[in-house]
Amino acid sequence: MTRTLIRGGLVVTASDELHADVLVEDGRIAALAARGSDTAAGWTADRVLDATDRYVLPGGVDAHTHMELPFGGTFASDTFETGTRAAAWGGTTTIVDFAVQSVGRSLREGLDTWYAKADGNCAVDYAFHMIMSDVNEATLREMPKLVEEGITSFKLFMAYPGVFYSDDGQILRAMQVAGGTGGLIMMHAENGIAIDVLVEQALARGETDPRFHGEVRKALLEAEATHRAIQLSRVAGSPLYVVHVSAEEALAELAAARDLGLPVFGETCPQYLFLSTDNLAEPDFEGSKYVCSTPLRPKEHQAALWRGLRTNDLQVVSTDHCPFCFTGQKELGRGDFSKIPNGLPGVENRMDLLHQAVVDGHISRRRWIEIACATPARMFGLYPQKGTIAPGADADVVIYDPHATQVLSAETHHMNVDYSAYEGKTVTGQVETVLSRGEVVIDGRKYTGRAGHGTFVPRATCQYLS
Ligand code: URP
Ligand code: ZN
Ligand code: ZN
Repeated sequence: MTRTLIRGGLVVTASDELHADVLVEDGRIAALAARGSDTAAGWTADRVLDATDRYVLPGGVDAHTHMELPFGGTFASDTFETGTRAAAWGGTTTIVDFAVQSVGRSLREGLDTWYAKADGNCAVDYAFHMIMSDVNEATLREMPKLVEEGITSFKLFMAYPGVFYSDDGQILRAMQVAGGTGGLIMMHAENGIAIDVLVEQALARGETDPRFHGEVRKALLEAEATHRAIQLSRVAGSPLYVVHVSAEEALAELAAARDLGLPVFGETCPQYLFLSTDNLAEPDFEGSKYVCSTPLRPKEHQAALWRGLRTNDLQVVSTDHCPFCFTGQKELGRGDFSKIPNGLPGVENRMDLLHQAVVDGHISRRRWIEIACATPARMFGLYPQKGTIAPGADADVVIYDPHATQVLSAETHHMNVDYSAYEGKTVTGQVETVLSRGEVVIDGRKYTGRAGHGTFVPRATCQYLS
């Protein structure tokens, strides 16, 4: 039996902060004991990790990543190998990625393709949601089988007509099936049909720069789609999780639904909290680095998102990590913003940026862990195996130095992408050591992990519904 002891730190979970030593046995948390107690003093271990003046945190759970996503004629530049290694560097020990069903193909085929991409390559544990690009009788029949297999959430798109898009009838049908099986529908809520009209009109006027991506994807069209998704989910009697909420008006729709007691949930991402349309407007095509959907919004929306995170109208912060290199990938959209592949890198930065939010006074320390670890684990059926530090949980643990300062940069990050969306930003706090199921994968800022350590984690259904 391998025993590791983490001594002297402040253990922070979503519910508690305690000065405690943590005993890890065979990949799991075995016990916590108050610092200095007889119990803690009596523990022996093969390895002792000193966490004096450090936080001891549950490993981050990033419930929205897109390793190797095919998009706009190219692929997201992080593979499961590079992307999960970067996740480990950033203190994230579980990702939930999106397997993609191609139009005309089965869910099974899409899922098997994603199993094959990830198998043997991951540095940390992983699970899958299923993107449904083609809702039809056959794929609806497949949904309950996937839920049984631990793929308990399905992403639908009200955006991207001709690619991932589902119409309202398809959405309603998928929601009806999900409602009956405990599956959770995740919605990309933007009115893609209306947006495509505005894209065409903008391009016809010669408005080709990246900033027009933000202008055509209007906040009202995010709000309208969010409202419609909520009403469809009410009709279907199914829960709803809206991904990458960026507009204050869309958040207001979620808040109103939650005030009615509806099982409606929302996620936002660091890019919407820290970046804005000012970035999209950067000259010399630099704005393309910030093209994602939903788009970055004017700065004024950020206060509403922070408030939503404090009031629990938003429950989760995920990254929507979907990196494309500036050179050769974002550049596909020079002269036509609609051809810029959509997505931003961030899997390595989320825990640090949210710690900066603690330092800045936006959220409390426990709320940091709640929105980044515990709630995503509960939302997607992984708790308490993931998302907390408690006896029996996987020993996914981060020793975090809250006083270190670092400058975020492509020069030093580990994501396979040639720019950082946060280039030059100084943040306070840094991951020092990371355990994944008891194995040290980052050791005092040295990578000691390996591709293949991470395993697939089948998920239970959403734990906010029962
Ligand atoms: O711009 C984004 N968000 N790219 C990834 C695909 C998606 O819609 O989540
Ligand atoms: Zn999306
Ligand atoms: Zn996404």
